[in-house]
Amino acid sequence: MQTSFAGRVAEAVRSIPSEKIGKPTVGLILGSGLGSFVETVEGTDIPYNEIREFPVPTVEGHAGFLRIAPSFAVMAGRFHYYEGWSMDDIVLPVFLLYSLGVRTLIVTNAAGGIRRSFSAGELVLIKDHINLLGENPLRGPNPQGFGPRFPDMSESYSKKLRALAQEVAAGQGGGGNLQEGVYAAFAGPTYETPAEVEMAERMGADLVGMSTVPEVIAARYLGMEVLGVSMVTNMAAGILDKPLSHQEVMETAAQVVPGLSRLLRGILSRIAPS
Ligand code: HPA
Repeated sequence: MQTSFAGRVAEAVRSIPSEKIGKPTVGLILGSGLGSFVETVEGTDIPYNEIREFPVPTVEGHAGFLRIAPSFAVMAGRFHYYEGWSMDDIVLPVFLLYSLGVRTLIVTNAAGGIRRSFSAGELVLIKDHINLLGENPLRGPNPQGFGPRFPDMSESYSKKLRALAQEVAAGQGGGGNLQEGVYAAFAGPTYETPAEVEMAERMGADLVGMSTVPEVIAARYLGMEVLGVSMVTNMAAGILDKPLSHQEVMETAAQVVPGLSRLLRGILSRIAPS
């Protein structure tokens, strides 16, 4: 984290018109294809290009605006390491949400399933992560006093929020509990090789993806409680005997999005009633 980072955060906060800020206590950072969820949320929009210091997403399927509802705020579109953004850029939205009052962060992503009990099209709660990005967003001076120098990561994905998500999912039917798993973040943009997937599996990973970990590190640094949900859009490379494609990832994501949206709405009605 660079010394001027606090200045960037302050500038981003200043570019949100005060009448739009509301009182969000829960923040969501949504991955691939969740535009249709955001459309169902009533609130005021601030396009990323109107938030000073914000990068503008480049990936297809990532819209790029902040929607502020009365009790929660949604980042529709995130910044990925593989796009070339710096770690500071990637975590800036988390600091902005924090500065608006958010203390609970919900992150979603698309992921490849490693664990054989997962199947494409399934929602999995993230219970922990392995950072294989080769970088940490908190590296650098820590003069801004946002959080501790050495943040604890022993319960990065809140047990309480996972239990709540399980309860909401059970109440919504669909049979059985959501599975839980460890998410390993690779830098991308290549999908992993089968050997890398095997390495991740031996390390204890159940899911692979290219996002989420920087934001969760930042959120934990800021003392936020985190819930992470992966949509398993494909089995990871080498698990099945077939190649991976972004097209397949997007198509499966589109099929899973209604279920994820329902889960998110159910969770929000419990922790961020409007
Ligand atoms: N690997 C990495 N990222 C992903 C995958 C995958 O298999 N599927 C969706 N995002």
